[in-house]
Amino acid sequence: MTQHLAAPAAAPTTGTHTGWWRDAVIYQVYPRSFADGNGDGMGDLEGIRGRLPYLKELGVDAVWLSPFYASPQADAGYDVADYRAIDPMFGSLLDADALIREAHELDLRIIVDLVPNHSSDQHEWFQRALREGPGSPLRERYHFRTGKGEDGSEPPNDWESIFGGPAWTRVTEPDGTPGEWYLHLFAPEQPDFNWEHPAVRDEFRSILRFWLDMGVDGFRVDVAHGLVKAEGLPDIGAHDQLKLLGNDVMPFFDQDGVHEIYRSWRQVLGEYDGERVLVAEAWTPTVERTANYVRPDEMHQAFNFQYLGTHWDAEELRRVIDDSLAAMRPVGAPATWVLSNHDVTRHATRFANPAGLGTQLRTAGDRELGLRRARAATLLMLALPGSAYVYQGEELGLPDVTDLPDEVRQDPSFFRATGQDGFRDGCRVPIPWTVEGSSYGFGDGGSWLPQPATWGGLSVEAQAGDPGSTLELYRSALAVRREQPGLGAGEDVEWMEAPEGVLAFRRDGFVCTANTTGRAIPVPLPGRFLLSNEPVSHGEGVVELPADTTVWWAV
Ligand code: NOJ
Repeated sequence: MTQHLAAPAAAPTTGTHTGWWRDAVIYQVYPRSFADGNGDGMGDLEGIRGRLPYLKELGVDAVWLSPFYASPQADAGYDVADYRAIDPMFGSLLDADALIREAHELDLRIIVDLVPNHSSDQHEWFQRALREGPGSPLRERYHFRTGKGEDGSEPPNDWESIFGGPAWTRVTEPDGTPGEWYLHLFAPEQPDFNWEHPAVRDEFRSILRFWLDMGVDGFRVDVAHGLVKAEGLPDIGAHDQLKLLGNDVMPFFDQDGVHEIYRSWRQVLGEYDGERVLVAEAWTPTVERTANYVRPDEMHQAFNFQYLGTHWDAEELRRVIDDSLAAMRPVGAPATWVLSNHDVTRHATRFANPAGLGTQLRTAGDRELGLRRARAATLLMLALPGSAYVYQGEELGLPDVTDLPDEVRQDPSFFRATGQDGFRDGCRVPIPWTVEGSSYGFGDGGSWLPQPATWGGLSVEAQAGDPGSTLELYRSALAVRREQPGLGAGEDVEWMEAPEGVLAFRRDGFVCTANTTGRAIPVPLPGRFLLSNEPVSHGEGVVELPADTTVWWAV
């Protein structure tokens, strides 16, 4: 495999311009799987610190860290027991302080994950709520209810957990009798907070200040669409609730009341200098509803999950790109683009499989095809106006590990039979840094999920300096993106006429062409060649766009 960069890339600029987040490339670090500093098989903050120069060299602007807080790890840290402490398995507050400072010295911003919809069942408030029994004021900070039926043995309503099974668990009261039920939209170890309670609102504003004082540049807000529940917690009545998710406004998701919370958070951020940001993880039925989260007095960005779910198909991509840009325009927020994260099958594997299978796959598919399309899809994403998210390891072209044995799996949804997916472990396997050695350089003590034997060949060491590698393609693309005015900036694309299956658009001084088909297609030569994921040859005025290839052109 070769790839082609026309001219040497300029050195990255600092990425600290005003409105930095509008076109920032933000790299997601999944702490348990990035780099293990102390050799216990689990990634940690020390490991991340040691790899900051790698991220700088890659050319990203900011790093988003999935949760590292004190947690029993029932959902890989998305079950927080103490929002102001680091889990000992990841390090200490001193490590976090050093990480933030060292990142800033490299002009890298740090965004931390905030998990406000639910805590861990080991959180002090929840433990006290259990101990103090019915009537305890602490129970009002969560959703405790008596059950239905004569003996209260049925859940208070028909809501289902996103991970499968009922969204309610019955507690045993301090006197040993079966008692009230509490709501958990995710695992039973993740009780939902009651956001109608002022103590919950005060607590989270205080947590925001704690981390802003630590110097973080922003927050990725987990389940941002879930905090407020419809009054009275009404039944849904439909049978397949999981199918409704993301397609309908549910009584527990995307309620209008959430927006007032984000307006108050924006005010807190406004007390701090340095353009701190809020990013919504909000799964809503439409991009228009997603735009509500990024109105001028709310959050700065929201993930574009509609884009993540789009197949490698020109027509579909164009529709989602247009819809996304149109939805963001009235609220003045940048569009965002994402292809992979820690909850979905990596895009190199999604695109290796037939379209229409969703974002949770168990089949490796045609790896070569998947990687080729993934590289083309990344170049397309990085040519769009707005901010882009890169998930650790995608710059190595990593596929999902689709054959993990059941006994090593840790995703809680895997263990809840009727759950959403259960296959998120496949995208969470620790990433390879070296060709040889224990866990391919992830750490000295193995890795918490087994890595495939072939991963040495995909390591950073194997790819660095190889002009045909996926790592060098990402480095080149990010360098060109910084160098080329107009790439990333702005709010629009100007579509150009193109044959079926090809996307072609113009931006300021730049043209992007993407052939999403499996055959070469000739098009008029758009300009001076900049970069592509496959070799491209062109003659007088015409270029043959290879199958599954994106090309960047200067005009
Ligand atoms: C979204 C997170 O990305 C996912 O990993 C987690 O399981 C749920 N929210 C619950 O916190």
